[in-house]
Amino acid sequence: TRPLKVALLGCGVVGSEVARIMTTHADDLAARIGAPVELAGVAVRRPSKVREGIDPELVTTDATALVKRGDIDVVVEVIGGIEPARSLITTAFEHGASVVSANKALLAQDGAALHAAAEANNRDLYYEAAVAGAIPLIRPLRESLAGDKINRVMGIVNGTTNFILDKMDSTGAGYQEALDEATALGYAEADPTADVEAFDAAAKAAILAGIAFHTRVRLDDVYREGMTEVTAADFASAKEMGCTIKLLAICERAADGGSVTARVHPAMIPLSHPLASVRGAYNAVFVESDAAGQLMFYGPGAGGAPTASAVLGDLVAVCRNKLSGATGPGDSAYTQLPVSPMGEVVTRY
Ligand code: NDP
Ligand code: HSE
Repeated sequence: TRPLKVALLGCGVVGSEVARIMTTHADDLAARIGAPVELAGVAVRRPSKVREGIDPELVTTDATALVKRGDIDVVVEVIGGIEPARSLITTAFEHGASVVSANKALLAQDGAALHAAAEANNRDLYYEAAVAGAIPLIRPLRESLAGDKINRVMGIVNGTTNFILDKMDSTGAGYQEALDEATALGYAEADPTADVEAFDAAAKAAILAGIAFHTRVRLDDVYREGMTEVTAADFASAKEMGCTIKLLAICERAADGGSVTARVHPAMIPLSHPLASVRGAYNAVFVESDAAGQLMFYGPGAGGAPTASAVLGDLVAVCRNKLSGATGPGDSAYTQLPVSPMGEVVTRY
């Protein structure tokens, strides 16, 4: 069987781990897919940077030419941001490639258009890594629970802010010190404002709500409040009440089933609640559905290797589809439930 060719767009915190695992697990990946996968090109911004384990001959600054080559089976987009990622993904579909992306900002803004472009070209768009790092969440919601009715998705979906809040609470570290550490560990976005002002968590909430409730939810639909104003005094008050403070994303179907809401904000959590013991850059998400009841998804929510694990899982799925001539589930939006603006925000659980 001919090798499947993969173009890697971005070789930073996540991309370098994707390349490493593709190399070190090459035989296992080939066995699971039924064909070898070959890194055919790596697009970056700074070509002279030394990148361990990457053949310099594969490195290019011309990502557009790479996705237009015509022989690429799968494009892995781990550049981040809106442009050039959006144009590159669209061009990839037009030139016959399927796409795996970790780009929640882009998916929360333009997910519908990107899905439409994938479907128009009979290609796949997978993005398990876009929400909650290594934790399998997108596919369980989209596939395993497709026959159930999900009513609520709630949890911690940003590793950086959980890391900062945890450090502030457990060690008394200052906000900036904890943010610097999260950045050094590769958890934060290129602009950490996205994390601490909760744009990142809001993008994830939009993606989760859209999939869970089969409707379109965009970043602008999500009520958003960051965590930059949480202080040591807030933690002290929370402690007096037997609580801690977490940044929560909450996506709910209205009781009458007629609309959905999505919001992200700091909230007090009783110390006895499982979310209170989510430490460091871990994430945890509760899903409540009619038939299954309550499910909890928990694990590393950020970082190079955990995120690459989710990217590689998608890569295997997309390659299998390519070989079988199938495509995975498309755009889940079909009921078009309206998204209600938030009323009163309850900040204690
Ligand atoms: P980094 O900033 O570490 O890496 C970005 C990569 O993209 C770099 O290799 C950079 O090149 C390259 N790049 C930037 N602009 C261009 C361009 N115009 N053309 C070609 N290459 C370009 O980001 P991360 O790896 O942390 O994140 C990547 C994506 O994954 C983002 O969408 C992020 O939201 C998402 N993500 C990140 C997680 C994490 O824990 N870090 C977790 C889950 C998702 P160069 O190396 O030359 O600078
Ligand atoms: N910056 C993100 C976070 C990366 O801290 O959760 C994972 O999506």
